[in-house]
Amino acid sequence: MSETASTRATRTSHDRLSITAPALLTSLAPLLTEWLPRQRWFAGKGRPITGFQLVSATELLPCAAGGATPGLLHLLVRAQQSAAPPGAPQPAPPEGPADPAAADCYQLLLGVHSALPPQLAPAVIGRPAGGPLHGRTVYDALPDARLCALLLERLRVPGRLGGLRFRRVPDSTISSGLPARPLTAEQSNSSVVYGDAYILKVFRRTAPGLNPDLELPLALARAKCARVPAPAAWFETDPGPGEGEPVTLGVLQPYLTGSADGWQLALNALAVQADFTSSARALGHATAEVHTALAGTLPTTELYRPQLDAVAAQMNERLVATARVVPALRPYCGRLRTAFDELAALGHDGRAWPAQRIHGDLHLGQTLRTADEGRWSLIDFEGEPSRPLAERRRPQPAVRDVAAMLRSFDYAARSGPSGGDPWSLEWARRTRAAYCLGYAEAGGLDPRSAPELMRAYETDKAVYEVLYEARHRPNWLPVPMAAVRRLAGAPASRGPGGDPGPDLDGADGRA
Ligand SMILES: Nc1ncnc2c1ncn2[C@@H]1O[C@H](COP(=O)(O)OP(=O)(O)O)[C@@H](O)[C@H]1O
Ligand SMILES: [Mg+2]
Repeated sequence: MSETASTRATRTSHDRLSITAPALLTSLAPLLTEWLPRQRWFAGKGRPITGFQLVSATELLPCAAGGATPGLLHLLVRAQQSAAPPGAPQPAPPEGPADPAAADCYQLLLGVHSALPPQLAPAVIGRPAGGPLHGRTVYDALPDARLCALLLERLRVPGRLGGLRFRRVPDSTISSGLPARPLTAEQSNSSVVYGDAYILKVFRRTAPGLNPDLELPLALARAKCARVPAPAAWFETDPGPGEGEPVTLGVLQPYLTGSADGWQLALNALAVQADFTSSARALGHATAEVHTALAGTLPTTELYRPQLDAVAAQMNERLVATARVVPALRPYCGRLRTAFDELAALGHDGRAWPAQRIHGDLHLGQTLRTADEGRWSLIDFEGEPSRPLAERRRPQPAVRDVAAMLRSFDYAARSGPSGGDPWSLEWARRTRAAYCLGYAEAGGLDPRSAPELMRAYETDKAVYEVLYEARHRPNWLPVPMAAVRRLAGAPASRGPGGDPGPDLDGADGRA
């Protein structure tokens, strides 16, 4: 007989806890219903939570009442949600599961204690009114350095605990007792820094299968590509029935001390009207090195007419769905669609285009430059979290990452106090060109040789941004809308008189 998620949860609870899963969940549900939607990483914003399903519960530290130290409870819970309430903006693809059975699964690390120090007050989730944790304070454990220390210890000494498996890269050595410092910047996941030596990322929304943020850095480490911090350890849980691979839950990797992220560096340069072309060119080198290593170590494929047609159709669907939600996009749809038609046409004469594993969500915020050597690294290979994992792990044209980074330079130039002034826009043009130049110099496909691919991917990214900004940050909507206007200008194939899609003119080193 196959094991269901709920029996698995109960069994895990019986193995590890003196409390039963149904009672635990019943007592936590009202608290989580309030707390989850307030978290930055909660993906189902705008749709009321209607219930929870416990996937697994593991007691990492005893949660029995009366202890002087906090307990630590690891939970995987599915949040069931209804459709958006009438009158509220309706979710549109690609974000938001339509099928309740596809309810998002979240990873929670809960501290359980009778009394909390005042500095942990912002982490409080609440006090269950009944159930096995009755009267205790339940809180988000990751801001608690004491509880984070335990996670590092578990990763240092690999092994199993309940349904969780802690694994270490064979030749890695992890020091014990490193002080934990939770990162406070709001991100898609939650990260903790250990003594400036390691950073642990705890994935908040989990999906069945190997997370590309573990898979790709491990592959790059095997390929001796030093542009990505190599994982030292990770933890995972057994797959559910029929799910195949273990579910990646968290990854520990070296912390790049003193590094600054590319977004901040670009904004700093813009604030003092400083040139960014040599940095962008070096970042192009780094991107090409990562792409070359990924193509050399993981499966590649070729996209023929049917695949290109499918990619173009998917982009078109996203455009239509976004225009339904964002009326400002509608006047441009016809012209934008020509970018996708041109992409599909690339396969019509029997030509094939290479596809490989890529970063999938590349932007300046996913790059770090070390202070001492000025060397760029790429981080966060999870891909666009709103897309299904299987889609994120599929080989794609590498220029998709290049196009995404070009959008990021545009974002930087259009944000901040003087954003969008002529100097900033010229900064963006030169920076984009320098990045493409660096990419081609280091062996990547010269973006100038694939204008149709570049325009299609840049257009698709801009459409994605329009939906994101309309939903989450309406003040930023003018940024992707400016790109929409530019990209709707003319087909890539029209030549120098038309819009070349991405600004590739000047990518000859004079940028
Ligand atoms: N190896 C690292 N060294 C230094 N800082 C890092 C490292 N990895 C991540 N960071 C910092 O943590 C932040 C979040 O990491 P990221 O992997 O992008 O997580 P998320 O999935 O939450 O976006 C980054 O923006 C960066 O500031
Ligand atoms: Mg990130």
